[in-house]
Amino acid sequence: MTAIAIDGPAGAGKSTIARRAAKEIGYIYVDTGALYRAVGLYMLKRGIDTADARAISPLLGQVEVTLAFQNGEQKVILCGEDVSRDIRTAEVSMAASNVSAIPAVRDFLFSLQKDIAKNNNVVMDGRDIGTVVLPDAQVKIFLTASPEERARRRYEEMIKKGEPADYCDVLSDLKTRDYNDSHRAVAPLIPAANAVIVDTTGNTLEQSVEQLISIIKEKLQ
Ligand code: C5P
Repeated sequence: MTAIAIDGPAGAGKSTIARRAAKEIGYIYVDTGALYRAVGLYMLKRGIDTADARAISPLLGQVEVTLAFQNGEQKVILCGEDVSRDIRTAEVSMAASNVSAIPAVRDFLFSLQKDIAKNNNVVMDGRDIGTVVLPDAQVKIFLTASPEERARRRYEEMIKKGEPADYCDVLSDLKTRDYNDSHRAVAPLIPAANAVIVDTTGNTLEQSVEQLISIIKEKLQ
């Protein structure tokens, strides 16, 4: 099986770009952030403090989370329920960032991610795919852009969907998540030693997709 690992900070365009690249090369696209979001949602629904490792660790055995793939689209199933939409709120983003710093949560989701890559050709996106989950991935890409550009993209996406949005709130949430993700003790967000770093600041989406696909094709030759 072949694996393409795409890591980078929140809002770098990983999901859109990775999904398009996966389609182009006929691989399945796996968004691992959705798994952390599902764990965050589970805890929020039960009123658990998402930063409280001692409260969360014993509950993980009850969290039944799976990814299903329908026509190339990933669905997130939490305890039998499709939560693919519910996990996209700002509240769940922050909850996901909190639970992702808990080593027991990372261990819990590790084998699930590994298994998907064992059985499928994947483009997998996350924060630690090239460093921890799939260290032997054939292609590793670290996708980034300036915080202001990432916040602007996220803000415009929310406005387009008719969601209430405030640019300053989006930017400050994103900076908090960046800080949490890069400073946690376990699997912090850092580029793998052999990752190609792609900065998409100033690029159109099309330019970034083309750049990524050409890197992947070149590496897979
Ligand atoms: O990618 P997304 O923004 O959906 O991820 C939500 C959160 O899950 C991130 O802020 C990060 O803290 C965490 N995450 C992680 N490792 C991954 C994917 C996501 O820690 N492989």
